Amino acid sequence: MSRPRIVVTGRIPDAGLELLRDAGDVWAWDDDEPIPAAVRDEQLADADAAVTLLTDRVDDAFLDAAPSIRVVANVAVGYNNIDVDACRRRGVTVTNTPGVLTAATADLAIALVLMATRRLGEGERLVRSGEPWQWGMFMMLGRSINGRRLGLVGMGAIGQAVARRASAFGMEVVYHNRSRVDAALERSLGVSYLPLEELLASSDVVSLHCPYTSETHHLIDATAFERMADDAVLVNTARGPVVDEAALVTALQNGTIAAAGLDVYEDEPAVHPGLLELDNVVLLPHLGSATVETRDAMAELAARNVAAVLAGRAPISPVTG
Ligand code: DGY
Repeated sequence: MSRPRIVVTGRIPDAGLELLRDAGDVWAWDDDEPIPAAVRDEQLADADAAVTLLTDRVDDAFLDAAPSIRVVANVAVGYNNIDVDACRRRGVTVTNTPGVLTAATADLAIALVLMATRRLGEGERLVRSGEPWQWGMFMMLGRSINGRRLGLVGMGAIGQAVARRASAFGMEVVYHNRSRVDAALERSLGVSYLPLEELLASSDVVSLHCPYTSETHHLIDATAFERMADDAVLVNTARGPVVDEAALVTALQNGTIAAAGLDVYEDEPAVHPGLLELDNVVLLPHLGSATVETRDAMAELAARNVAAVLAGRAPISPVTG
């Protein structure tokens, strides 16, 4: 019997490739540049499985090129790059990588909270600039996070992990979520639920941990910024288009909010030129899950999902939404 053919559309760690090789014949694009569509389509023509990255758009065009595909395994927890309905219509299983990147992403969110509230990006730029500087009582003062309120938008695994970390920093944590989490979990995390409007109006730091869907497109827009305090900080490690980036630039320019820390962008990898000119925003290049351990674990989970589906078993982490 011929072995299944697995196409990997971008570079992934060897840990994942090795598992995939046990499950079938692997063809992998081996470049950091995105795979050209023509190359991808040629490879997909007789593929049984595809391992994709968040930079791939898995839509009808992708699926048309892959008539025998049975599983698309996205090496990311977010799957807004995948038309899940189109896959479902064609009987293609979709999987993602929840759990394994929770800690790394939560760590990065906290790093951005600290960077934005304590003006660490600005400080680093000052030292690197070679400009003379000297310790001063009023030099580059930020704001403490101890005793201040963190508002989490989204209370899935990553939101919960951020809540635990923030409590350790002495923050009071409130959250908003599509559905309220159960009371026992609220108690164990020490968090309380608030309607979004109230969370925005009362939080010193607002951190986004919701998936990107049609409902969360521009969830944080000019009206949301108007609701926030003028010394509040926004952190986004979720997906860029949850925030109206043009409205964010205006809010940061006008002092409607004090600062922001961003790991994701509306039109990634492009960054709104207005953001680049501002000192009160920290800009990272989508590093949420970027640790060696986490990327290995993500690739391994994606590979195990592929292996399960190709062997006729249930995938470990199917996308059901
Ligand atoms: C994800 O997994 O969705 C992150 O954005 C990238 O690791």
